[in-house]
Amino acid sequence: MRSPFLSSSAFRLATVMLLAGGSAACSQNAKTETATTAATPPAAATTAPAALAKPADWWKETVVYQLYPRSFQDSNGDGVGDLKGISSRLDYLKSLGVGTVWLNPIYASPNDDNGYDISDYRQIMPEFGTMADFDELLKGMHARGIKLVMDLVVNHSSDEHAWFKSARASRTSPYRDYYYWWPAEKGTPPKRYSTFDVKKDAWQYDAPTKSYYLHIFSKKQPDLNWNNPKLRQEVHAIMRYWLDKGIDGFRMDAFQFVAKDPSFPPMPGLTESNYANAYNHGPHLHDYLQEINKEVLSHYNAMSVAEGAGRNTTEAMLFVDPARKELDMTYHFEGVGVGSNSDTYKLTDLKRVFTKWDSAFAQKGWQAIDLGNHDQPRMVSKFGDDRPAFRAASAKLLNTFLLTMRGTPYCYNGDELGMTNSTFKGIGDYRDVAARNAYALLRQQHGNEAAFFHSLARFSRDNSRTPFQWDATAHAGFTTGTPWLGVNPNYVTLNEAAQNQDSASVLNHFRRAIAVRQQHKVLIHGQYHLLDAANPAIYAYTRTLGAERVLVVLNFSSAPHSWPLPAGLVPSGRPWLNNYPQALPAGPALALQPWQAVVVPVR
Ligand code: GLC
Ligand code: CA
Repeated sequence: MRSPFLSSSAFRLATVMLLAGGSAACSQNAKTETATTAATPPAAATTAPAALAKPADWWKETVVYQLYPRSFQDSNGDGVGDLKGISSRLDYLKSLGVGTVWLNPIYASPNDDNGYDISDYRQIMPEFGTMADFDELLKGMHARGIKLVMDLVVNHSSDEHAWFKSARASRTSPYRDYYYWWPAEKGTPPKRYSTFDVKKDAWQYDAPTKSYYLHIFSKKQPDLNWNNPKLRQEVHAIMRYWLDKGIDGFRMDAFQFVAKDPSFPPMPGLTESNYANAYNHGPHLHDYLQEINKEVLSHYNAMSVAEGAGRNTTEAMLFVDPARKELDMTYHFEGVGVGSNSDTYKLTDLKRVFTKWDSAFAQKGWQAIDLGNHDQPRMVSKFGDDRPAFRAASAKLLNTFLLTMRGTPYCYNGDELGMTNSTFKGIGDYRDVAARNAYALLRQQHGNEAAFFHSLARFSRDNSRTPFQWDATAHAGFTTGTPWLGVNPNYVTLNEAAQNQDSASVLNHFRRAIAVRQQHKVLIHGQYHLLDAANPAIYAYTRTLGAERVLVVLNFSSAPHSWPLPAGLVPSGRPWLNNYPQALPAGPALALQPWQAVVVPVR
């Protein structure tokens, strides 16, 4: 599997130059679409009862909406999204039909890495609001039947956390062993690489105690020492604090890296490109997870999901095999990793990866299904075709895919509109620490700037972090001030207000697809079977549950394709979903339009 670190590639690009390529713009109007299923009224505002039904395994049947708080809705004009802003948009979330919101970190943070550097795990970042705002938000979500999952970032803290301030001040601090230190008198520490670091060095010399500390992310993100039981108890207490407030689960950030051998043996063969895999899955990782489960999770009906857990399916299963009592589900990076280092990708690779991961969990365990997140470019720009002629159809197709696979779909905010990669004019337009530090390194090494910026434009994490496009007013209705990261200029035509009005929009297709998934359990639990694996343009599969079977056919290409129906598969009714208005011609082959996505029951 690829690097389990971010595939933003921005970082790797400083030294690894990519091939150039490009996509010319062309234009044609988006097609309209028929509602082929019980239409979900846009913005249905029916409010569910406040009590949250939580059957066991609820997390398998939910749809997760990943919400990036910094960019969702600003309520006070400072250009930064905030909790009150999210609260003001809860009816919108409700109208989507999503069951769970995963919030990226909202804790106190100096924001070196947009909240993934936490200085106080029990405080809200002042830019985002207050604890009262949080309580209000949670209440508002639960009142609408929406659950809340928080990010848990405990591979590292911020260097501004009180623990670290104390730890770095003296070798006898009671918090010293909350972190990893290498005393200078022992010489230079064994080589460890870091992502985000300008020098790629994971050891930072700290003068007050004449020691190096370990940071596998930026130097403002010192790694926490999980070998220390006191640290582990602190984390358990933090988890209980939020669960006792009523949240519904955690997304465990970078958890595959928490376990380390504190003696830091030399790692022969460690290189700039393999270090993430080399750090993955260290000693006692599963002991820590089982302890978390026993001490905390088992006492709550909470959902737990690990980011990037396991270097392969066998390792990933260890996290989520129910018998092991660790976590509920995992999401792998191999899917979003397809095509991460080039301008194109092969559909056959995407099919192979998703099929492999599905079969690994076919008997037990559970996984997340995603094509994008805050560490990735926009899914439509990467896996679809974001040129005007194909943007809407391909975004609908990708959402159809997410919502018809087995596993819990994770839909990243803005993807329900088909938001695209943005336009950045120079390094000054980027905000991400990964991009800024990679550029600093590139300058030092006199690297190829043209190649660097080409790749950054395509893969930067800032592409998916631009403000949510609500309407056609200034700054897309995100803020009345100056947004912390520029709004994608296409907001004038690509926005929620316009799409809400249009029954054929990406947004309303997304709502329909969620409704269809909720109506048909076969789409949640049904067995997945890939058809025509070698077809370079069509991704087709069946889902089967008992006597019910449904066929999903996705034309992953900007050209029309005819796809012969395999023998024995006969459509047995109207499509549940179709992102084109035309009825499907009856016959032995399906004539598919560019990026057409059809979900049809079969006999
Ligand atoms: C995870 C997060 C990413 C963050 C990193 C360090 O990969 O998704 O945004 O930069 O961990 O916390
Ligand atoms: Ca604000």
